[in-house]
Amino acid sequence: MTSHPYRDGFAPVTEEITAYDLEVTGRIPAELNGRYLRNGPNPLSLDDPSASHLFLGEGMIHGVRLRDGRAEWYRNRWVRNAAVARRLGEEPRSTLTHEGMDFAPNTHVLGIAGRTLATVEAGALPYEMSYELDTIGPCDFDGGLPGGFAAHTHLDPATGELHAMAYFFGWDHHQHIVLDDKGTVVRTRDIPIADAPMLHDFALTEKYVVIYDLPVTFSMAHAEQGASLPYAWNPGHASRVGLLSRATGEVSWVEVPPCWVFHTLNAYDDGDQVVVDLVRYPQRFVDARLDLGGTPTLDRWRVDPVAGTFTETRLDDRAQEFPRMDERLTGRPYRYGYTAAARDLIDVVYPDDTELEDLPDEAFDNTLIKHDLAAGTQQARQFGRGAYVGEPVFVPSGEAEDDGYVLTFVNNPDRGAADLVILPAQDFTGDPVATVHLPVRVPLGFHGSWVAD
Ligand SMILES: [Fe+2]
Repeated sequence: MTSHPYRDGFAPVTEEITAYDLEVTGRIPAELNGRYLRNGPNPLSLDDPSASHLFLGEGMIHGVRLRDGRAEWYRNRWVRNAAVARRLGEEPRSTLTHEGMDFAPNTHVLGIAGRTLATVEAGALPYEMSYELDTIGPCDFDGGLPGGFAAHTHLDPATGELHAMAYFFGWDHHQHIVLDDKGTVVRTRDIPIADAPMLHDFALTEKYVVIYDLPVTFSMAHAEQGASLPYAWNPGHASRVGLLSRATGEVSWVEVPPCWVFHTLNAYDDGDQVVVDLVRYPQRFVDARLDLGGTPTLDRWRVDPVAGTFTETRLDDRAQEFPRMDERLTGRPYRYGYTAAARDLIDVVYPDDTELEDLPDEAFDNTLIKHDLAAGTQQARQFGRGAYVGEPVFVPSGEAEDDGYVLTFVNNPDRGAADLVILPAQDFTGDPVATVHLPVRVPLGFHGSWVAD
């Protein structure tokens, strides 16, 4: 194998570390009691087949525990599915799977009703982790989950309902899953969808679950050719967005131009219409390749299920990804969003031999952006070369929407190790409130959460 995607910011680490009483510059806010957790692909070996695709590396969770103004510990742990457990000389935790799929989830890590769950899409079960990030085992929510789960979920802040959309290449439908605030599966609904499309994220409003049905579908042809992730751009599959009524379960479909969406920033109802803010690609997975399909932009969709109309507005045309917001306003009108523009996170946009100096102007690197959607303005906070800045997680502090902190890992190339940077969201380009110095590098990864104690 001459080429693998785990280079530069994504280069995996080879050891699990535990470090206590971390050095801090600044002052950790005393109200931050809990854990900042982040998941990402970290292949056990670059010679393994799992290292052939960025989405297939074994999941590793990096966590920092904050308490009473101190950074108590840093830990990084592989998620031990059966194969990882055996490789590390341990017993597999369980034989529980959906359809025999046992994957070490690498995409997100969530606090759900007191559980810490590593999640992934496409049919495998989540894995439950202990507070200290030891693997407990696969989780089907005490038998409540009919199939697999999802990487991304959305919590209704008013009802405490957690929503997920599951998909699996062997299904003729996607599955909407609702958990109550105790983490019990209280409702599932199958939504017939042709061609087994990929569905990475969705959106939630007070009235609707918003389902993206876009032309990236399971490809038997690519599977037979040995593609490690056989999903491909499929011009024969119509693009549409579905509004699943939370009241009646009926779905209204509205046609949209062909495109691809990994991530939702937020969505809300506006009269009879639905506003969805998201990161959109012109195409993706062309010929089952992750690196073809154009630049991601922050866009606003307005969907009218009654009139059957759709409009799209560009909010920011700079290449960016990993949108997050104040989740107290999930599904509600909101003002602020946060995104990341790390070249490696969206490296797939550029050919391998593009040098940083050659990147077009819109390619911010190592930058976090705060969007003021009411004013139509952005603040960009740039970190240095080699910082490999990741997803900005917002943690509320006061009442106001942006009264809180933005947390992310930032690597310090001089030290050869990462910092957990805690930024004041209202002074986004000012000094960090605190910088927690970790003893080791943290590779770029995918998603994370602040899980309050
Ligand atoms: Fe994602």
